[in-house]
Amino acid sequence: MQVTLTVNGEQMSADVEPRVLLVHFIRDHLGLTGTHWGCDTSNCGACVVSMDGVPVKSCTVLAAMADGRTIETVEGMETADGLHPIQKGFMECHGLQCGFCTPGMMITSKWLLENNSKPSEHDIREAISGQLCRCTGYDNIVKSIQWAAENGTGGEYPESAGEPAGVQDESAEAVKA
Ligand code: FES
Ligand code: FES
Repeated sequence: MQVTLTVNGEQMSADVEPRVLLVHFIRDHLGLTGTHWGCDTSNCGACVVSMDGVPVKSCTVLAAMADGRTIETVEGMETADGLHPIQKGFMECHGLQCGFCTPGMMITSKWLLENNSKPSEHDIREAISGQLCRCTGYDNIVKSIQWAAENGTGGEYPESAGEPAGVQDESAEAVKA
């Protein structure tokens, strides 16, 4: 079947089997290998991408379910001015070691700061609680997100009207618009 998505602002299509997962569609059919695949159990969160503005574990979504949706991956984070403040934060605060979890962590961080421009440490830890990092012990990831919250350009992270909902794990949840 033909699947068409808007990925990082560009419309992309591919002919895939209905059973293909979004993570494999992104990596193998679109060649965007910044999104990682780290487990078979929907636990690790290395595969997190933004779908219609909400972080989802792309291993829990069929590519067919994402047809017509808007996807952002780590490759789309960089701005016209260079690295996104979150990318700078991870660089400044050593928020990564091997880097395997980093793309997903940054996608979730971006969503968090778009919805809560002044997150507490608890807010940050809650937002990334569905994602595993096997290297850093999380402290430097939290500091990186705090750095981005403090150093993002004015107006980039508007105040949220509500609480962030966290990374969506379930396929049914993931396709809710
Ligand atoms: Fe581990 Fe998706 S690959 S949660
Ligand atoms: Fe290695 Fe997070 S930096 S898993």
